[in-house]
Amino acid sequence: MQENTILTPESVQASGEIPQHVSIIMDGNGRWAGARFRPRVFGHHKGALAVRRAVETARKLGVKYLTLYAFSDENWGRPAYEVSAVMDLLEKYINRELSNLNQNGIRLNAIGELHRLPERTKKILDQAILQLSGNSQMVLTLCLSYGGRSELSEAFKKIASKIEAGQLTSSQISAELIGNYLWTAGMPDPDLMIRTSGELRLSNFLLWQHAYSEMYFCKSSWPDFSETHFLEAVQSFQSRQRRFGLIREASRPLTLEELEELKREEH
Ligand code: FPP
Repeated sequence: MQENTILTPESVQASGEIPQHVSIIMDGNGRWAGARFRPRVFGHHKGALAVRRAVETARKLGVKYLTLYAFSDENWGRPAYEVSAVMDLLEKYINRELSNLNQNGIRLNAIGELHRLPERTKKILDQAILQLSGNSQMVLTLCLSYGGRSELSEAFKKIASKIEAGQLTSSQISAELIGNYLWTAGMPDPDLMIRTSGELRLSNFLLWQHAYSEMYFCKSSWPDFSETHFLEAVQSFQSRQRRFGLIREASRPLTLEELEELKREEH
């Protein structure tokens, strides 16, 4: 693809592989608001609009799984009014977008310590999940009260109790088995992880699942994250060579001369 070409979902589709699963750390709502002398919650409102844009872009591109880090288990430590504003926004987003999600064949999923959510939020979420459960074009997963270490601890506890009950032996533990006990069981790992706002951290997000994901860090804050930003991230993904620890080019063993040369340098 030429530099300065206007990106569209169609041009990005034509230029290479579309990641099957995209995960996003939607960061920078608070700083975005602060830079505009607005309260942090103002930034979350704008952030919810960016969620709508990202979902639409993912769907247009043909992404099959979009996973959004909406609320971490550490986020409970924020002031009560901010926590309750994010929960309200989540409820509003679901109520407002439900028919749109349905028309676009999008299934809703939520992972995390969902029992910690306020009762009303949980009820609205559960109803939406049920209503959209027949859809198959894309799965939108909201990570709520989510932490990667909590997810892994839960999985290990379940595996340990199976072993205690004699239903599993320790020799049966494998990466595949652990994956089956995670909240993301049945989903492919993210191919592309995007984080906005310029921070270069994983912040306890899908720690196990991101083992081989391509990372894309975008300077723009989440409320400014546009269709073009999303398309640029996918374009960057398309330019990467994913090797999963393997090699692509032809290789040969060392010759005796090369071996001697290396030995000389070691002494
Ligand atoms: C990170 O920015 C954002 C959050 C912790 C909340 C994300 C919530 C939304 C985008 C709105 C509602 C969600 C949905 C799914 C509709 P931050 O507050 O950590 O920003 P900062 O790092 O600049 O302080």
